[in-house]
Amino acid sequence: MKAVEIKPDIYWVGVIDWGARDFHGYVTPNGTTYNNYLIMDEQITLLDTVKYDFSDITIGNIKSVTDPSKIVNVIINHIETDHASSIDKIMELAPNATIYITERGKKGLDRHADTSRWKFRIVKTGDTLNIGRYNLLFIETPMLHWPDSMMTYVKEAKLLISQDAFGQHLATAARFDDEFIECASHAALEDSVVDYYANILMPFGQLIKAKIAELLKLGLEIDMIAPDHGIIWRKQPERVIQMYQDMVDGKASLRVAIIYDTMWHSTERMTVPVMQGIKDEGVDCTVIKLRATPGSVAVKELWKSRGCLIGTPTLNNTIFPSLAGFLTYLRGLRPKNRIMGAFGSYGWGGGAVKECYEEFKKMGLEAVEPGLQVVYKPSSEDGKLCYEFGRDFARKVKEFHKKFE
Ligand code: FEO
Repeated sequence: MKAVEIKPDIYWVGVIDWGARDFHGYVTPNGTTYNNYLIMDEQITLLDTVKYDFSDITIGNIKSVTDPSKIVNVIINHIETDHASSIDKIMELAPNATIYITERGKKGLDRHADTSRWKFRIVKTGDTLNIGRYNLLFIETPMLHWPDSMMTYVKEAKLLISQDAFGQHLATAARFDDEFIECASHAALEDSVVDYYANILMPFGQLIKAKIAELLKLGLEIDMIAPDHGIIWRKQPERVIQMYQDMVDGKASLRVAIIYDTMWHSTERMTVPVMQGIKDEGVDCTVIKLRATPGSVAVKELWKSRGCLIGTPTLNNTIFPSLAGFLTYLRGLRPKNRIMGAFGSYGWGGGAVKECYEEFKKMGLEAVEPGLQVVYKPSSEDGKLCYEFGRDFARKVKEFHKKFE
């Protein structure tokens, strides 16, 4: 790759990580990018770095535009390793540059690098920096994604450099939304936005809601949003803002995600009539076998659906391991506005279904109790119970969904 001019004298100098498949536990089947940006102005300014492993590539991209020693300002919007761990390499090349960072960013960076060598200016929301023809405005966005996070708005370019927000884990030759839609599809792009939000930003939904309201109140003219991951929004920046507004408000489809695993196919056999019952009640249904599917994909499907059923066998009196791990991961993401239920087979003592409901309670999620358990292999009578269980759950989901219409 080489630098890509995204606005007059503003370049994408990032890298594409085609092989990224695990992002701190979040499975990324489509890889990712680490985007950073270079503004060629009277004061040459670099916004963010990239993951350390790729520092040579971003430096090569910078060199294709300018001599890195001429960089006057380095802005660190977010200190997480995927964006800030090349800072040493950059500062070796531009040792006199001033680093612009939030107070919490500086404290965090102090724990990652020997910062005593560098000049800093601490910034907060509303602070500005004139670099020549362009004026930059800093906007703190704590917990979007870490306490240190901020965005940088380039006023004359109507460009919001949004760091993790509005990103997607997509490794692609396309740099812009319209390019990606042309070579893939609009649905694939939006699916990536939901996937990223569900697995990274879901816990911070209410903070994001307040921050988006604050951003809109500032009345900034935005005709491009450039995140630190994935494609740049030049055709439809307003669409991704709308998607975020919908997600923080808990918008979901009238659909049920069945997320299950199985030991000897008994719980799997229950899944089919449960699904049929849901569909016969007029509710769409997605079925995910967990050991065959990354948990992060299951989280995305749950997040797209108003209701979710967990199908788990009982193993050693408790939840099947793949589902136990999934529920722990889900609890950390603090989902809201979803209704849950559970079913599964057991041999003698049972216990997994009951424990699922305890997990739902810990998450503060509404649940349709008591779930359904079947001993060993489901009989044809059990199949009828599963079907009715699916129908009843779908009815409860429809009722619950009305609250959000
Ligand atoms: Fe892409 Fe929070 O780092």
